[in-house]
Amino acid sequence: MKINSNFLNLKDSYLFSTVGRKTAEYKEAHPDKKVIRLSIGDVTRPLAPAVIEAMHRAVDDMSRKETFKGYGPDRYCYGYEVLIDSVKRSYARKGVSLESSEVFISDGAKSDLGNILDLFAQENTVLVPDPVYPVYVDTNIMAGRKILFADATAENGFLPMPDFKVDADLIYLCSPNNPTGAAYTREQLAEWVRYAREKNAVLLYDAAYEYFITDPALARSVYQIEGAKECAIEFCSYSKTAGFTGVRCGYTVVPHALVREGTPLNKLWARRQSTKFNGVSYITQMGAAAVFTEEGEKQIAENLGYYRENAKIIADCLDELGIFYTGGKNSPYIWMKCPYNMDSWTFFDFLLEKANVVGTPGSGFGKNGEGFFRLTAFGTREDTAEACSRLKTVLKK
Ligand code: MLT
Repeated sequence: MKINSNFLNLKDSYLFSTVGRKTAEYKEAHPDKKVIRLSIGDVTRPLAPAVIEAMHRAVDDMSRKETFKGYGPDRYCYGYEVLIDSVKRSYARKGVSLESSEVFISDGAKSDLGNILDLFAQENTVLVPDPVYPVYVDTNIMAGRKILFADATAENGFLPMPDFKVDADLIYLCSPNNPTGAAYTREQLAEWVRYAREKNAVLLYDAAYEYFITDPALARSVYQIEGAKECAIEFCSYSKTAGFTGVRCGYTVVPHALVREGTPLNKLWARRQSTKFNGVSYITQMGAAAVFTEEGEKQIAENLGYYRENAKIIADCLDELGIFYTGGKNSPYIWMKCPYNMDSWTFFDFLLEKANVVGTPGSGFGKNGEGFFRLTAFGTREDTAEACSRLKTVLKK
């Protein structure tokens, strides 16, 4: 018996587990301190009333033999049509038309971003922006793939563009980006689509934060770009859009037009999901289906507005302190330069000890993240304001 020794090439622990452990250790040693977490992008607003009502109705359905549900419908890999229809309506509002069988309901973007790799041969070369959400890198290390990095730096606005001299087969893009908050315009994304088509590559497009976009010049979906259906898979989530981090629901779009080596990837993904996945609970799916209704959209807009205001509070604080940052406008993340040339983990320790505020060290997202630090706007208003006032106190000294 041999283990998958690729796991030995991973860092000892997942970035957010390390941050969590360090925070817990500090709290245990200082039980009197109120530690404010602006680290992992976990939401704090309760679910929208329309979602709660739909979930209550779904619970009632489960209580009666006439309306009880077991496994979901296998026609759409256990996704209920009412939910798939609402996803299609949300895409239609972005000018994108989808077929029901192109939408796969999942338990969130993170799992699908990892699981999708089942579809691709090990010898494929992967291109990942640096810095980026660590899941893309870690899942490919586990699979033993060769990983190339596209530098995202202050010079290119943290938005690397394709280099046609580099050959890659699988390309990850996350826009609005986690962790930098930078977001691609439609023109920039069109270049990536051109690259993927020319290289016969596949774009793995993480759109988990698209609901934070307010600037109409920015792309909300890769499929807003002509030709993307032939080269891109898109991953979406209700986590940040509708506060589902603890509920778990997302959707992945695999267009029928995406064909490689004569095989539609949609067919492979359907085969993979029906074999390894039994779907998302009926109650969760009914809650999710309420998100993109007229009422649900109004209610989630309020929550998104609340987080946007938090982002503005953090941005104003950094402006006052004269600290460079990006993001916070079309994104819930603020990507700040560590003051006094501190490296990312030194600043993490400094902030935890002096201000009792927890953020995420930029170096955890890649080598170009060194010297940067990520704060999230997903905290409560009180915590965000208090964290900013502490930041001003310790950094003005
Ligand atoms: C983050 O903080 O980067 C996200 O919450 C991670 C995730 O969504 O899995």
